Amino acid sequence: MHLNVIEHPLVEHKLTVLRDKKTPSSTFRSLVDELVMLLTYEATRNVAVEPVEIETPVAPTTGVMLSEPRPLVVPILRAGLGMLDGMTQMMPTAEVGFLGMRRDENTLEIETYANRLPADLSGREVYVLDPMLATGHTLVATIEYLIEHNAKRIVCLCILATPEGIEEIDKKIGDRADVTVVTAAMDEGLNEKSYIVPGLGDAGDRLYGVVD
Ligand code: URA
Repeated sequence: MHLNVIEHPLVEHKLTVLRDKKTPSSTFRSLVDELVMLLTYEATRNVAVEPVEIETPVAPTTGVMLSEPRPLVVPILRAGLGMLDGMTQMMPTAEVGFLGMRRDENTLEIETYANRLPADLSGREVYVLDPMLATGHTLVATIEYLIEHNAKRIVCLCILATPEGIEEIDKKIGDRADVTVVTAAMDEGLNEKSYIVPGLGDAGDRLYGVVD
């Protein structure tokens, strides 16, 4: 697994406002958009492109465009949805699929409650959107699913990550797939309720309000 922690003053500034508990949902959503655009810039550094011939008003030239099959963007419901706009603004021709994952309170296993993904991911580059890489259980289950369906490369965009989450991915996935995690910050770790510390609280609640 490759890890890319983006170190940039603009990212750090936006992240600081995002973390602040006084920041209202509307500002929080705009900041997530902006942060995701900055993360996308780094996350797509190796996206597959192919040469194309075009004509400028002055002369013919060769440029590049994203190759087929198009990259697939997969927000993990619910909080990953908050990252989708930022990503699709940067990569409007990408396809979008959805995965809903939750922990079964009895078995503590991660289960999939929603799945709108192509069955065959052969040759696909998949960009997973999950703002909080906390224990890593959800992301490991997602990556396992994508490996089973033959994804070629998996890039996970997380606003925050923890050493525990990264270790979990390393331990469970190892070198079985080409996986990269791109994050705006590596936080200290988890508290007793598995919240990221210092973190930003519950990302879904801060994006969309509390749903009981
Ligand atoms: N999910 C969140 O929304 N926040 C955390 O701190 C951990 C997991």
